[in-house]
Amino acid sequence: MSLNIVILAAGQGKRMYSDLPKVLHPLAGKPLLRRVLDTARELAPARLVVVYGHGGARVRQAIPDEDLLWALQAEQKGTGHALAQALPHLDPGLPTLTLCGDAPLVRPRALENLCRAARETGEESLGILTVCLDNPQGYGRIVRDSADGIRAVVEEKDADEAIRAIREVNTGIFLLPTRRLGAWLSALKNDNAQGEYYLTDLVRMAVEARIPVRAAHPETVWEAEGVNDPAQLAALERRYQRAQAEDLLRRGVRLYDPERIDIRGQVVCGRDVSIDVGCVFEGRVELADGVSVGPYCVIRAAKIGARTKIEAFTHMDGAILGADCAAGPYARLRPGTVLEDGARAGNFVEIKNTRLGAGSKANHLSYLGDADVGARVNVGAGVITCNYDGVNKHKTVIGDEAFIGSDCQLVAPVKVGAGAILGAGTTLRKNAPANMLTAMQSRAQVSIPPRKQAGKEEGAPAKNEA
Ligand code: UD1
Ligand code: MG
Repeated sequence: MSLNIVILAAGQGKRMYSDLPKVLHPLAGKPLLRRVLDTARELAPARLVVVYGHGGARVRQAIPDEDLLWALQAEQKGTGHALAQALPHLDPGLPTLTLCGDAPLVRPRALENLCRAARETGEESLGILTVCLDNPQGYGRIVRDSADGIRAVVEEKDADEAIRAIREVNTGIFLLPTRRLGAWLSALKNDNAQGEYYLTDLVRMAVEARIPVRAAHPETVWEAEGVNDPAQLAALERRYQRAQAEDLLRRGVRLYDPERIDIRGQVVCGRDVSIDVGCVFEGRVELADGVSVGPYCVIRAAKIGARTKIEAFTHMDGAILGADCAAGPYARLRPGTVLEDGARAGNFVEIKNTRLGAGSKANHLSYLGDADVGARVNVGAGVITCNYDGVNKHKTVIGDEAFIGSDCQLVAPVKVGAGAILGAGTTLRKNAPANMLTAMQSRAQVSIPPRKQAGKEEGAPAKNEA
């Protein structure tokens, strides 16, 4: 579609009580302005302009897109004044769609419907996206005449009792005839309750100029809702999460409670996937057929193979798990973790930049970093790879079917041969040969009487104090 799109994002967001500019507050992990931009891009606009002002440097830094046109509104004098700053960037031959940086959930379909509705009346028309709200408080009201034609938008602060009772409201999204904007915007006055130049006054100007004004409506009301304070942001976050949960349910995913899942990215699921309560997903997460995710897991940018079981409280970031694996409860799988088919990482096991080969197990209290572990290896409880010497990271290599006894430290760089056994408590500083038992010999086990303690006779048994 050939059009200009202008996103108004210069407002301060006073009611957020925050140092972060309002349009940078995240919804489902993405800044509000980023969401609006992503939606705008789906319409492939010829020009895409962001009007910025409050927190300008931060906003521009957070949105480094190279093809964007930026218009500075140094002083925030209202939405009409904001649009006027974008005017020099617009192609006068194309209509202009205005979006609000604080209304993050509007969908492309609603915008397309608005453009279509406005175009049906000819080349030059004004389109406005409206919704009917049970509680229209805070929004501009749509005033219609007896023939149902739109006459004006009146801001709540300027409205009398009768107008306040109107439930149809302005979403802030307009399709405007660009050639008219120069004259209209310079004719705006700020003689209203807020002392601002209102974009909404263009509706009255269009009516006076006998330019057709058409309304369109989004499929759902919440699409059009704006964020003005933390409560509205929280409410919209819940609405959005609920919509995503319903989408997963429709695709056959078993959610133990659709109210208790948070998706701050994308979750792609196979068949018979189940997700228990309280899980957070970030980035792109792929769950293959039959995967089950236990309660309170945080899973970011991960790929999980068929029938793998993720137990409660597992954290994952940038991990790839094969089929029939098990992780958790309380496992932490950091970037570069690869569990091959049937591998297991149990409770309080942290893994980073490490491959755990097929069928290998690290079931209890371990740290495996920068390691390459072969197939069918048993990593005993408390085993630690000492991968960091204070300056550099080094690699640990463990061959197939090795058995690493409990509480070993593997001081990297070091290698354990295939089929090797490390005795419990070994501090391995040199390579351990394949198929041999390697253990510490010098540490003889001795038993000595307890040290003399103040107030206690030597040799007397210590009292058992809880
Ligand atoms: C505006 C509309 C109102 C509509 C509501 C929908 C006007 C006068 N009112 O009210 O009819 O129901 O949105 O959410 O248009 N902005 C600037 N520069 C400014 C002022 C605002 O860029 O000087 C931007 C804000 O960053 C925001 C958007 O414009 O993204 C809307 O501004 P806001 O102050 O939230 O207007 P509302 O009072 O919500
Ligand atoms: Mg607003």
